[in-house]
Amino acid sequence: MIRADLQDILCFDAKPLMLASCPSSRVRDATTNFQQDTTGMGSRIAVAGATGQMGKMVIKVLRESEDLRLSGALVRHGSPFVGQSATDFLGWETEVLFEDDVDRVLSDADCLIELSSPGAVGGHVSACMRHGVPVVIGTTGLSQQLQAVIEDAATRIAIVQSANLSPAMTAVNEFLAKAAALFPEYDVHIAEAHHRHKKDAPSGTALWMAESVKRARLESGCGADSHISFTSIRGGNIVSEHTAMLFGDVEQLEIKHVCTDREVYASGSLHAARFAIGQTPGLYSMKEVVAARR
Ligand SMILES: NC(=O)c1ccc[n+]([C@@H]2O[C@H](COP(=O)([O-])OP(=O)(O)OC[C@H]3O[C@@H](n4cnc5c(N)ncnc54)[C@H](OP(=O)(O)O)[C@@H]3O)[C@@H](O)[C@H]2O)c1
Repeated sequence: MIRADLQDILCFDAKPLMLASCPSSRVRDATTNFQQDTTGMGSRIAVAGATGQMGKMVIKVLRESEDLRLSGALVRHGSPFVGQSATDFLGWETEVLFEDDVDRVLSDADCLIELSSPGAVGGHVSACMRHGVPVVIGTTGLSQQLQAVIEDAATRIAIVQSANLSPAMTAVNEFLAKAAALFPEYDVHIAEAHHRHKKDAPSGTALWMAESVKRARLESGCGADSHISFTSIRGGNIVSEHTAMLFGDVEQLEIKHVCTDREVYASGSLHAARFAIGQTPGLYSMKEVVAARR
């Protein structure tokens, strides 16, 4: 049994993830499930949390995109940035200004990328429902109540939600789920480190990893009640580090993901937006986004 499962891991299909930009044409590609733009102008992407570290990085990667374009930059209500250029910080001349009116921003958007703060997510998701605009949610630290609002909204619009928008993280979670199910008696500890400004702890990614362990053990019939402990470190400019440790009596297994540049998450959010545009309502994860691009 264990041998067969190990064989499974060794035979893990390592096809490269084809995550390059889509060509310009707005037709659904039946093989990938991605809707593409035929106007030649690119699908319109609005960013919530546009003055934040992630928001600015999304604007930066949108500048390089051939099939997506920045249409709106949403900031906190009453922010001193309202009315200023959203792209000046890149020396990039556009007409997009920072705005705090979500309805105005969504009236000119094909998708919202939400990377702001938990307090803003509920209002932004409700507004997306009103406008029939799909949304990519990367914001973490959401309450169960807010999660229920998102799940309800996903019956009406397409939502891609991921605590970690790096496509590689889906592979990390697959490895971890396999290992956790293969060695159900091993204790699991998840250590994560982030920059000094990160607000939530443990990180959304750490909680997602724990969920993967629990689900894999439950599905393989070895129980979901495994105790999982966490360590969170906050300091300096660390972008993101996650290590899952599995402790046996005489050996230790580690699965680690280190991100040194937020661009990984920003470009992951664009892949998620391409997937979400034209998608039927539902709550999707990066796993579906990655699978659709294979
Ligand atoms: N899923 C992923 O892969 C991933 C990766 C990195 C980060 N994240 C998450 O993304 C979120 C943002 O991270 P960050 O590092 O960019 O944080 P950040 O630098 O603190 O940026 C957050 C931004 O959101 C703005 N904001 C607050 N309330 C808002 C509202 N009601 N409407 C619009 N904007 C609002 C803030 O504006 P003010 O400064 O004016 O309040 C700030 O500019 C966090 O939850 C973080 O954990 C997710």
